[in-house]
Amino acid sequence: MSTAISQTAYNYKVVRQFAIMTVVWGVIGMALGVLIAAQLVWPDLNLNLPWTSFGRLRPLHTNAVIFAFGGCALFATSYYVVQRTSHTRLISDGLAAFTFWGWQAVIVLAVISLPMGWTSSKEYAELEWPIDILIAVVWITYAIVFFGTIVKRKTKHIYVGNWFYGGFILTVAMLHIVNNLEIPVTWFKSYSIYAGATDAMVQWWYGHNAVGFFLTAGFLGMMYYFVPKQAERPIYSYRLSIVHFWALISVYIWAGPHHLHYTALPDWAQSLGMVMSIILLAPSWGGMINGMMTLSGAWHKLRSDPILRFLVVSLAFYGMSTFEGPMMSIKTVNALSHYTDWTIGHVHAGALGWVAMISIGALYHMIPKVYGREQMHSIGLINTHFWLATIGTVLYIASMWVNGITQGLMWRAVNEDGTLTYSFVEALEASHPGFVIRALGGAFFVAGMLLMAYNTWRTVRAAKPAEFDTAAKIVEVAH
Ligand code: HEM
Ligand code: HEM
Repeated sequence: MSTAISQTAYNYKVVRQFAIMTVVWGVIGMALGVLIAAQLVWPDLNLNLPWTSFGRLRPLHTNAVIFAFGGCALFATSYYVVQRTSHTRLISDGLAAFTFWGWQAVIVLAVISLPMGWTSSKEYAELEWPIDILIAVVWITYAIVFFGTIVKRKTKHIYVGNWFYGGFILTVAMLHIVNNLEIPVTWFKSYSIYAGATDAMVQWWYGHNAVGFFLTAGFLGMMYYFVPKQAERPIYSYRLSIVHFWALISVYIWAGPHHLHYTALPDWAQSLGMVMSIILLAPSWGGMINGMMTLSGAWHKLRSDPILRFLVVSLAFYGMSTFEGPMMSIKTVNALSHYTDWTIGHVHAGALGWVAMISIGALYHMIPKVYGREQMHSIGLINTHFWLATIGTVLYIASMWVNGITQGLMWRAVNEDGTLTYSFVEALEASHPGFVIRALGGAFFVAGMLLMAYNTWRTVRAAKPAEFDTAAKIVEVAH
């Protein structure tokens, strides 16, 4: 009897661990974002020390929010979703625990090595070769746990959310390994095996698909499970979701060259990247519409349910950033936007509006479930968090649009005699108010995350997960 019990119940322990660390790394990574935003307002905050300089803390911010916060959210939700939609336990508790501790080790190593200045200098792939190897081992284990669980599923078909999670896991493994092929010189330094334009091409094939698969496909997996669950409605169109999946993954992989317009990359490759990016609007909006329309007949729930609001507003920002991206990939538009704060605004429309908001909504749905509670400690606090996050995101992206277009126009302004109208410093001065508003928006967002941490702590403190797990096992067996 007891072996039957332990085989059927879900492994929620690893889900709980990753969920808690999502909140912890979210607070830390975004607080670092506010710090570097403040450094751009008050340069004295660099403290004149190498370890606390903007140049070293910036990659620490990006790694902390993408891989620590976003990564833990993806691990937590994918392990939860794959078990519940496959009606089976993860194939191995030991391997799942290894992915948890291994991933936390990667993050801690990043927290040490990036401020020390040990970097491969490839954006979003800065970590040096020993850490790259650890990432590859953890990621392959993740793939074994995820796909192994799918293989032993008790349901006939594979729910579409798992297709997205699966696509994300496989592609990230490929991207990470190919982009990080490097020759070590010491324990802390390596050189890429690629050179020149090839290096740039491989890096942005990786970089763009880090966006497409890490920051998009995985979170779409989250969307396809948590939006219908929270709205208590089936997904609007299952057929559309399948078309969405295949269209998205087959187009995304070609769009990378839009990061390298007007560079040494062959012109045809730049144009290919641009065309593929414009086509990408269609599957992106197909997915957004599919998520939004799931609420048809349930729109009234938005009035009383702040979790659903997080999920729906995240889709709105997803739609917005995937409209903006294709526009920015057009070479003539990119001639204005590239190097400016417009790109930073676009990034955070996706990162705060889409990635962070959908993760927050999913966690508010999932945390009580894995801790055996009806709901989060305070729905009122979730509502306050929602407004802080929304206002924070809007302040961030609106200020960066204004800054970006101002910078782009000032840099290209020329006098009749062909000399530049403005010096770089004049454009920097004009950007100052926008930097202040962005830091304020970031502070709003972090304030919301602190409320989430408090709400989570109160929910967890009142829960008895061990008893809940036992009860869940008994219910499972009774079924
Ligand atoms: C409170 C929230 C946040 C604040 C205040 C913030 C602030 C910043 C700042 C000041 C920069 C550097 C901009 C520059 O170099 O001019 C930056 C870069 C970046 N942040 Fe954030 N950030 C926040 C949240 C996030 C989140 C949640 C994500 C991802 C999920 C994210 C992803 C990025 C990325 C990818 C970049 C690099 C962009 C590029 O190179 O074009 N940030 N952030
Ligand atoms: C259809 C979808 C999208 C397209 C076609 C697209 C296109 C673009 C373009 C053209 C750039 C500017 C490249 C440059 O001038 O350097 C860019 C930058 C960026 N986008 Fe998007 N974007 C899309 C969606 C998203 C989403 C949803 C996110 C986040 C979740 C995102 C995150 C980023 C990041 C992080 C960068 C900055 C990369 C860097 O320079 O460090 N994008 N995107």
